[in-house]
Amino acid sequence: MNPDLERLQTYPFQKLNALLDGVTPDPSRKLIPLYIGEPRHPTPEFIKQALVNALGGLASYPLTIGTPELREAIAGWMKRRYRLDAVDPATEVVPVTGSREALFAIAQAVVDAGRPDPVVVCPNPFYQIYEGAALLAGATPHYLNSLPANRYAFDFDQIPEPVWRRTQLIYVCSPGNPTGYVMPLADWKRLFELSDRHGIVIASDECYSEIYFDEGRAPLGALDAARQLGRKGNPRLVMFSSLSKRSNVPGMRSGFVAGDPEILKKYLLYRTYHGCAMSLPVQAASVAAWNDEAHVVDNRRLYREKFAAALEILRPAMEVEMPDAAFYIWLKTPIPDTEFARRLYQQQAVSVLPGSYLARESGGVNPGTNRVRIALVSSVEECAESARRIRAFVESL
Ligand SMILES: Cc1ncc(COP(=O)(O)O)c(C=O)c1O
Repeated sequence: MNPDLERLQTYPFQKLNALLDGVTPDPSRKLIPLYIGEPRHPTPEFIKQALVNALGGLASYPLTIGTPELREAIAGWMKRRYRLDAVDPATEVVPVTGSREALFAIAQAVVDAGRPDPVVVCPNPFYQIYEGAALLAGATPHYLNSLPANRYAFDFDQIPEPVWRRTQLIYVCSPGNPTGYVMPLADWKRLFELSDRHGIVIASDECYSEIYFDEGRAPLGALDAARQLGRKGNPRLVMFSSLSKRSNVPGMRSGFVAGDPEILKKYLLYRTYHGCAMSLPVQAASVAAWNDEAHVVDNRRLYREKFAAALEILRPAMEVEMPDAAFYIWLKTPIPDTEFARRLYQQQAVSVLPGSYLARESGGVNPGTNRVRIALVSSVEECAESARRIRAFVESL
């Protein structure tokens, strides 16, 4: 077997299962699961209908590059969303079956394990796929802390120069999971300088880009930042987007990768072997989803309502911040995060994810320690109810 499999860490949800094993939540209450970032608003009917209307496509093998209709719908969306003059659907867009597999695949395509001591930089806390992708590509992950003292900004300057020299790929996540931090233009400028200096490929995970709270202020994306900074051709830059959270279709497995055509050419070659072509009915449903914004505006309204309700309940009892974007509360806990999650589950039947499961110790700190991630994915009523229970729990400590 591939010995690198032994280097993979247990997935956070498995750790949570082990933590809660044998603990019985208060049976008089309905369990509210807020530990996983799985959107639970209903899938829009028109997306389901587009899928059903295209079921005939099951009779054909889809191409890895996707249909021209899908690539054009994605390119059109990108131009509107990031105010780009032009996106070539033939060379600058690759449909993927959810951003998860795509984020994993990029490391396999980009990392040259033959070069000495390859490094992949990951945010910390982070989405664990980055780490697994780095390890299975034969690289060593280097963790870039995102701390409250710095308003969760990625402090690129904390990474020593010799590490940057060995870095082949950096993952950034903006809006961040779990902090919700949105990278401003100045961060992008610094990151592009590092990429230019050391030849580092930037993988920008933007799967939460459409979950934000002010309709007039959509989070800055990597390609928009590159445009504003006058960069041409997006050298070494690829961004990852997804319909899962934007359109409430996590089960559809649909997203895209866009950016540097040279990287995408090789990435597409890798993917023809990887074998993740999107089925034709899913492609047709994706076209419908990317071409519509009304359902996304509606989706955001629900998240706004949930944050407003939850924060109003929690604020008098604890320190809690409104994130820049995404649907998580990254809550500071007055007791160790694992104990908080276990006792909250037992006493109040609410499950949340211990922050330390989402981070690694780096530079002497684990940025997830004494934090829990609360995903506001249930209905407005359930999120308000869970906030009441969390408050009662904190007040009982
Ligand atoms: C940060 C981040 N990136 C990527 C994904 C993957 O999303 P999907 O594969 O549904 O596009 C998730 C899912 O929760 C996530 O939290």
